[in-house]
Amino acid sequence: MPLKNAIDLTGRRILLTGAAGGIGAATARACATLGAEKLILVDAAAAKDSLDELCAELRAEGSESIDVSAHICDVSSRQENADLIAGVGDIDAAVACAGICPLEEDWLDDPDWDDVFHRVMDVNLLGPIHLARELIPRMAARGGGQIVMIGSIGGRMGGTSPIVQPHYIASKGGVHALIWWLAQRAAPQGVLVNGIAPGPIATAMTATTPYSKERYPLGRLGEPEEIAWPAAFLCSPAASYFSGSILDVNGGLFVG
Ligand SMILES: NC(=O)c1ccc[n+]([C@@H]2O[C@H](COP(=O)([O-])OP(=O)(O)OC[C@H]3O[C@@H](n4cnc5c(N)ncnc54)[C@H](O)[C@@H]3O)[C@@H](O)[C@H]2O)c1
Repeated sequence: MPLKNAIDLTGRRILLTGAAGGIGAATARACATLGAEKLILVDAAAAKDSLDELCAELRAEGSESIDVSAHICDVSSRQENADLIAGVGDIDAAVACAGICPLEEDWLDDPDWDDVFHRVMDVNLLGPIHLARELIPRMAARGGGQIVMIGSIGGRMGGTSPIVQPHYIASKGGVHALIWWLAQRAAPQGVLVNGIAPGPIATAMTATTPYSKERYPLGRLGEPEEIAWPAAFLCSPAASYFSGSILDVNGGLFVG
């Protein structure tokens, strides 16, 4: 019997946070290319214009066949997550991509650094918790679903640039631990929670970060699409036996 292509998102309704960002937008495009039926694109108010542009682009390319909508939500707000999920209908898969990596304050001597620490935790770690809290019971009630959280190589090995601050690193290590915690509880209900730990990727987040590319086995940063395809894969039927996995997609920079 011929093998059916299972990396196929036909009929899938997929929500993406941080959808206006580099990796989020690339993942939305990958999901559209793989046949997703509905894309729910979510980002912060400050990214509204980029989100609307992405929405228009995907609608134009998918014509009638894809249902794309844009939603403003601060992922750090429990209430905004609850309102969002209550209003968007059934979701088969979600990619939690929203994140921040402030570089301005120094943890050693900036008096405001602790406030920034809490903001980073609220967005990068509490955000995926809020989303999972809303999604897992709904997905379980419908027989299953897939959730993908974007961690980081920083959470694996403590960072790859000298200026990335410990709040970001700790938040991403926390995302990895959260994936393992959630996966154990959600899998018996048919909900698969997995993640990706990207190496440095060329997006707005890394535009001002110095990297020593000579250290990199491939000699370059990754492109957003190189995270998007694995993320789309983790939303597909081909990933049906993945639970609690964190894919290291880093060009060989970290091999744990
Ligand atoms: N670029 C990298 O090198 C890299 C490496 C490892 C992990 N990551 C992670 O990948 C994810 C995507 O990063 P990116 O490189 O595409 O960065 P990006 O800055 O291009 O995109 C991040 C997106 O998150 C959104 N966002 C920020 N705060 C938000 C909030 N409170 N509510 C809703 N949306 C919010 C931003 O508006 C932006 O669109 C992040 O979680 C990041 O930590 C990135």
